[in-house]
Amino acid sequence: MSKHASLQRSNEAVQGLAITSSKTSASFVTISVTIWFIVLQICQGQLRAQLGTTPNIKHIVVGRCYTYITLVNPSLSYDCEEIWRQFEEAVVHQSSCNVTVEDYYQMFNVMPQIRPCNMFLFWSKTRTLMHSYAAVFRHFWTLEDTLVGYMFNDLIFCGQDEDSGFDFNSCPEWSACRNHPVYSLWRQASQNFAEMACGNITVLLNGSIVNAFNRKSMFGSVELESLNPQRVDYVNIKVVTNLDGPHIESCSHGSIVDLIQTLQSRGFHWTCTDNDQTLMILQCMQDPKHSSCQTCANSLLHRKSLTSN
Ligand SMILES: *[C@@H]1O[C@H](CO)[C@@H](O)[C@H](O)[C@H]1NC(C)=O
Ligand SMILES: *[C@@H]1O[C@H](CO)[C@@H](O)[C@H](O)[C@H]1NC(C)=O
Ligand SMILES: *[C@@H]1O[C@H](CO)[C@@H](O)[C@H](O)[C@H]1NC(C)=O
Repeated sequence: MSKHASLQRSNEAVQGLAITSSKTSASFVTISVTIWFIVLQICQGQLRAQLGTTPNIKHIVVGRCYTYITLVNPSLSYDCEEIWRQFEEAVVHQSSCNVTVEDYYQMFNVMPQIRPCNMFLFWSKTRTLMHSYAAVFRHFWTLEDTLVGYMFNDLIFCGQDEDSGFDFNSCPEWSACRNHPVYSLWRQASQNFAEMACGNITVLLNGSIVNAFNRKSMFGSVELESLNPQRVDYVNIKVVTNLDGPHIESCSHGSIVDLIQTLQSRGFHWTCTDNDQTLMILQCMQDPKHSSCQTCANSLLHRKSLTSN
């Protein structure tokens, strides 16, 4: 109905443009209003498209799957078409707010993945920094490096109530339902990822926010629960703050203390580092003139002058 209404409105707008263009005095105002109307409709269109299933989702998902097994990780062999079939089955046969993690079991069964130890990287509210960290230390492995993470990263999807395929017009908000199709997929993917984790694992947390360790986050609610103290040697926590601060939480202040207590009570070995030097340097690379980066820059300068003498 909203689609119909907006179509009608744009017809009216175009008619308005044609009729008033002959009248001189009022025409400028009308054309401005009309253009404003059209711009508004384009914006609304984009907004709607963003909230619905990502356009071309099948091509994106199947394409990413082939990219992964052909270029990213050629040692693996998966049936990308079968993974898509299982995914579609899970999403479109339920109402859009009623896709449970169990609905994805078949899909996860056709995409098992194992990984050597000591490279698992977990993070919460540090996404940008995590990407540069993982790009520099290529051995780190995040959820987005798994096949499922790679395939579904940044995608939105939901079915329609009448079992008639994906809903490309609108999907419910995550918060609107208990069993959101996107949330359930990531929840199961996160759980599998954490269950697989072994050896030393790294957790990047954001010390510039309250509740750096948030029990409602994917890390706090799903991944932490699924880590196995028998498989994990050390949980190495790194708390990183923005160069500009604020410095709200640290290894000894705020919610991270709760995380450490939880880990300890479950029998994990752990370490916790505030402002890890490598993470500082990564941030300084993006903002070298920042005052927190001057000591680093000065010592480099100093070293340079020593070597050139
Ligand atoms: C949700 O799905 C379950 C089975 O997967 C079904 O029994 C239930 O009726 C569904 N609820 C709604 C509101 O569609
Ligand atoms: C910490 O969280 C804030 C707010 O979400 C974000 O702007 C900032 O980039 C994060 N800092 C780091 C180091 O990831
Ligand atoms: C695991 O972490 C502990 C504590 O940080 C460290 O002493 C040990 O060398 C690490 N082992 C590996 C294999 O990285």
